[in-house]
Amino acid sequence: MKRLLLFCLTAMAFAACTKKQLPVANYDIIPQPKEVQLNEEKPFELSPNTLVHYESGLQREAQFLVEYVNDILGFAMNMQEYQSQPDGIVLKVVPEDFDQADAYEINVTPKQVTIKGADAAGVFYGIQTLRKSLPISPIDSRQRTSQRRNDMGEAKCQLCCGTIRDWPNFAYRGMHLDPCRHFIPLDSVKVYIDMLAMHNMNQFHFHLSDDQGWRIEIKKYPELTEIGAYRNGTVIGHNGNLYDTIRHGGFYTQDELRDLIEYAAERHINIIPEIDLPGHMQAALACYPQLGCTGGPYEVWKRWGVSEEVLCAGNEETMLFVEDVLNEVMDLFPSPYIHIGGDECPKVRWEKCPKCQAKIKELGIKKDDKFSAEDYLQSYVMNRMAKVVEARGRRVIGWDEILEGNVSETAIIMSWRGTEGGIEAARKGHDVIMAPSSHLYFDYYQSEDIANEPMCIGGYLPVERVYEFQPLPEELTPEQQKHIIGVQANIWTEYIAHFWHVQYMALPRMEALTEIQWNNPQERDFDAFVERCRHMVQLYDIYHYTYADHIFNPQVWADTVEANLATHKPITLRQQPAEKYTYEGASLLNDGNLGRGAYNSGRWLGFCGYPLDAVIDLEQPVEMQHVRFHALVNKGAWIYNPSEVKVLVSDDGETFREVAQKDIPISTWEDRDGIFAYEVDFEPITAKFVEVLISGYDLPEDHSGFGNPAWIFVDEIEVR
Ligand code: ACM
Ligand code: ZN
Repeated sequence: MKRLLLFCLTAMAFAACTKKQLPVANYDIIPQPKEVQLNEEKPFELSPNTLVHYESGLQREAQFLVEYVNDILGFAMNMQEYQSQPDGIVLKVVPEDFDQADAYEINVTPKQVTIKGADAAGVFYGIQTLRKSLPISPIDSRQRTSQRRNDMGEAKCQLCCGTIRDWPNFAYRGMHLDPCRHFIPLDSVKVYIDMLAMHNMNQFHFHLSDDQGWRIEIKKYPELTEIGAYRNGTVIGHNGNLYDTIRHGGFYTQDELRDLIEYAAERHINIIPEIDLPGHMQAALACYPQLGCTGGPYEVWKRWGVSEEVLCAGNEETMLFVEDVLNEVMDLFPSPYIHIGGDECPKVRWEKCPKCQAKIKELGIKKDDKFSAEDYLQSYVMNRMAKVVEARGRRVIGWDEILEGNVSETAIIMSWRGTEGGIEAARKGHDVIMAPSSHLYFDYYQSEDIANEPMCIGGYLPVERVYEFQPLPEELTPEQQKHIIGVQANIWTEYIAHFWHVQYMALPRMEALTEIQWNNPQERDFDAFVERCRHMVQLYDIYHYTYADHIFNPQVWADTVEANLATHKPITLRQQPAEKYTYEGASLLNDGNLGRGAYNSGRWLGFCGYPLDAVIDLEQPVEMQHVRFHALVNKGAWIYNPSEVKVLVSDDGETFREVAQKDIPISTWEDRDGIFAYEVDFEPITAKFVEVLISGYDLPEDHSGFGNPAWIFVDEIEVR
């Protein structure tokens, strides 16, 4: 109802505004402001003569507003400190008018636009809303602003009168970036921070250490960046054992980081540094091998995945090293949160290490039916470091693995392996940040048409799926839900070597993310959201941001196969597909619709480690001589073509005899991924039942997952 009323008022106001034939601001932006009440008063005219008046303390905010208007409309307004009841734009902070941080109100009258915040951040978000509402000239928005101004003639626009009141649902609104797998230059990181600011985000999670590179200068341990910031080669593509020989790396000096922290703070963004431990530490071990269990030698890792070389938890020197690093990190970063990682720490070294085992004994650690002694040893490390952090009045954040053991309740849990860790953590009284890979890993593909995408790590996470995410799990009570303090998306850069690609992966998925962080909409209307995105990408053009445009060009797949002997006949599977890839089950295989899109599009059945074994009841004896099916290959996602297909027939559905067998050669890295048809012909035979047995390969030696079975994804078995 409220929405309808708003729509009508917006439409009316537009009609009133457009009589003047000046471009008109549109408040229907992302994230959508919570309350918009417009009236029919004469619109405010924003022009080069508009003065920006700011309260003391809001000078930088005023500058941002002037810059944004110049970027978009091509003119520079003047600004000055606030005087009583001026005409123009007024920026002020009035905490008593709001009941939460970051809230703002924009009030537009014919003579004045007041942007009032609960705090300076609120004013900043009001400015972002005004910025995103400004009309963008329909001429090519990539043209330079001066050019655009000339083409627009009079550089003015109208703001319809009324009031916008807005506030965020989540206090923590974050995005992460990994400059370790591929170094990202400081200037690009600043652009990334600009992108966060545009989307009302206030936390930038900066992943500064990993196996493949150490990125932050630590004065006490200079080798960390002299040696640990560089690697002498990188694995190529998804291949397991081909490397380039290019020296890759870089790091941020402490001076550069201070500059970055200030840059972010001006935009009301806090930078959360992450030192990932006790795993993901191979770059540090390459510099200080005595900190590992075996003593090395180690090299800065050239491949992706999870290294077994981790910090030695039984070595006091190692613990003191980490404490020193964290203290220097805290000297530099004023962040109230310090991220200490804790993810993906294999325990194979600890199991064999005399020092680690001695530490387990010394601490009296006992395994139980839930966790190993080594899991508890990791808790010891994490809790010890949490104390170092908390001693300086900060809070630790850790990945959800840190729940494995007995981590202290004060730690904030970042739930990445789905939402389950977050749910468990909230029940135990931890604060939680939801960042599940299922919905918020922006390093995954955003199109099913991967042949036409820049290569990435795999997966499939379209904007629609981000937009669907519900950060407050229904399993939690309202009281427990209060522990969900925020939502974050992550960008890991194994397959992202350039900043344009970072932007491409982030945009426009950040639109869906900000909508969830700021509004957590209960009602979601994706089509309306896409319409609002159209304006956002015009804004991206102005700033030369690279973005994906799939949501504006939905893919239409050819859909059906010709009816054949198998279509819609009773079908059973002797072994069920993997639970995640079962969907409607066996009947998907002969419903007349072709498998299409990505492996998780719902149109493929997935099997791993055992064959697809389907029996189709043809309902009467019929002659057949041909079986055909489709399978999907996505080698990076561990999905290979089938190794073999067998066709068997039966008259009674019990005794089957083989009528055809075909081996299929394995796809190599030279072969493209995609969807392929496989066919088997045989001597005509009459039978009532047909069994199709499709086997898979094990991952070959040149695959990073060597030793594991490959997946097969199959759809639409046709029999003729
Ligand atoms: C993670 O993605 N390993 C936190
Ligand atoms: Zn050890």
